[in-house]
Amino acid sequence: MDKIRTPSLFPQRKKQKGMHPPISLSSCEVKFSELVIFIMERKMGVTRRTFLMELARRKGFRVENELSDSVTHIVAENNSGAEVLEWLRGHKMRDSSRFELLDISWFTACMEAGKPVNSEKKHRLMVKASSFVAGTVSQYACQRRTTLNNCNKKFTDAFEILVENYEFRENEVPCLAFMRAASVLKFLPFTIVRMEDLEGLPCMGGEIRNVIEEIIEEGESSRAKDVLTDERYQSFKLFISVFGVGLKTSEKWYRMGFRTLEEVKADKTLKLSRMQKAGFLYYEDLLSHVSKAEADAVSLIVKDAVWTFLPDALVTITGGFRRGKKIGHDVDFLISSPGLGQEEEEEEEVLHKVIDLWKKQGLLLYYDLIESTFEQAKLPSRKVDAFDHFQKCFAILKLHQQRVDTSSCDASKESDKAEVKDWKAIRVDLVVSPFEQYAYALLGWTGSRQFERDLRRYATHERKMMLDNHALYDKTKRIFLKAKSEEEIFAHLGLDYLEPWERNA
Ligand code: CTP
Ligand code: MN
Ligand code: MN
Repeated sequence: MDKIRTPSLFPQRKKQKGMHPPISLSSCEVKFSELVIFIMERKMGVTRRTFLMELARRKGFRVENELSDSVTHIVAENNSGAEVLEWLRGHKMRDSSRFELLDISWFTACMEAGKPVNSEKKHRLMVKASSFVAGTVSQYACQRRTTLNNCNKKFTDAFEILVENYEFRENEVPCLAFMRAASVLKFLPFTIVRMEDLEGLPCMGGEIRNVIEEIIEEGESSRAKDVLTDERYQSFKLFISVFGVGLKTSEKWYRMGFRTLEEVKADKTLKLSRMQKAGFLYYEDLLSHVSKAEADAVSLIVKDAVWTFLPDALVTITGGFRRGKKIGHDVDFLISSPGLGQEEEEEEEVLHKVIDLWKKQGLLLYYDLIESTFEQAKLPSRKVDAFDHFQKCFAILKLHQQRVDTSSCDASKESDKAEVKDWKAIRVDLVVSPFEQYAYALLGWTGSRQFERDLRRYATHERKMMLDNHALYDKTKRIFLKAKSEEEIFAHLGLDYLEPWERNA
């Protein structure tokens, strides 16, 4: 490794201890007010940092003790650009393009010159250049490693509002364009601060650039703001927040003149589906996000039940929690076992048995069991967002919560009488797959939705293959490609493997 050499002008931390009496900031006149330096302590140590800060101040540089918005130059020693960025992220400084990231060698040059020197390429800690080339960013999310670290939330939040509005208006083309653009922005390792940052990136059409430009200049998107106050958007948003209510029902209720859930509930002539009734009944619980801890608790319940009937079953958490999300709107599970798929009977049985058990235990608040509709040797579905054919169950489980008793003895007697609700309703999706389709089911149910869309689009357009939650079909060779793991599916598609937490497209 190429260790950064520090000229002898700057003693290393041990030597200089106590050599210079500390001087106060006020005793130094700031000669170069155009730059504000911050020196990172990481891998440098307090003593050496203090020494360097005082030295610079004596020479007329402005050096800050704390990292603040006024900082223009960040100096680090023995840290890579990626390490500095990581550290900055931990300190809530995501917008790394606001300052220069410089190696100690730049600082040394300044001290030697007794004035600021222009930073040259050799001084700059490379972040973009080494790990990021805009022109190589793929238009497909399955060729981008997208973690939950979103540097461009300011933009993607606005995009998501626009996307939703297009969805509510069934305006497919711009909807897709904004979804794809948001996904590209989520992938970027830096924050967009000027329009030039978009150069070379895919999916950045004119419409999208306009929105980005406005957010850069004004700090917010007037279009997104308008949507948020739009009556139709607000009503739809409210309606679909009820489990069992989709676009069709929202449209109907909106046309009937309803604008709030209270108005919907008050109309006794409305025929609600069983699902929607459950949606209203457990509305508050279902609206509040499922935490990771709650997902883990549900996971124990699911495993316990499944293993009672199928001891060798694989029970895997899928969806957002498998991608590392800390919250979700539900908890998704995939169930399979080496025996499943051999004998029809057993495959159909396990989910029924689990449901019966939960019913007896009083844990099942709602369920909708959908039997498998899979036919052998069927070609993968052409439709990108199509439902799969697995046997599945959309359920609401009663999750008992540990009561945190903060009340005194007297008060707890009172609360016993009032019967405090000590459980939370949680949405749970259970999917059962034949064992030989397990890898495809896992890949399909891990998401994200944008990742899945792009994976299918990539298979179709780049490989002449058809992919769905059951299988991969090679249209050229006219064969189904078997896979035991997700890695094998990526390999069949000629893609580098992406871990679940890199699929947050
Ligand atoms: N999925 C699917 N078929 C369905 C429903 C979902 O293939 N009928 C897949 C989607 O690809 C999705 C994943 O299952 O990515 C999980 O779906 P969902 O729970 O809706 O989304 P999450 O990513 O888990 O997000 P959340 O945290 O909000 O639950
Ligand atoms: Mn989910
Ligand atoms: Mn789900």
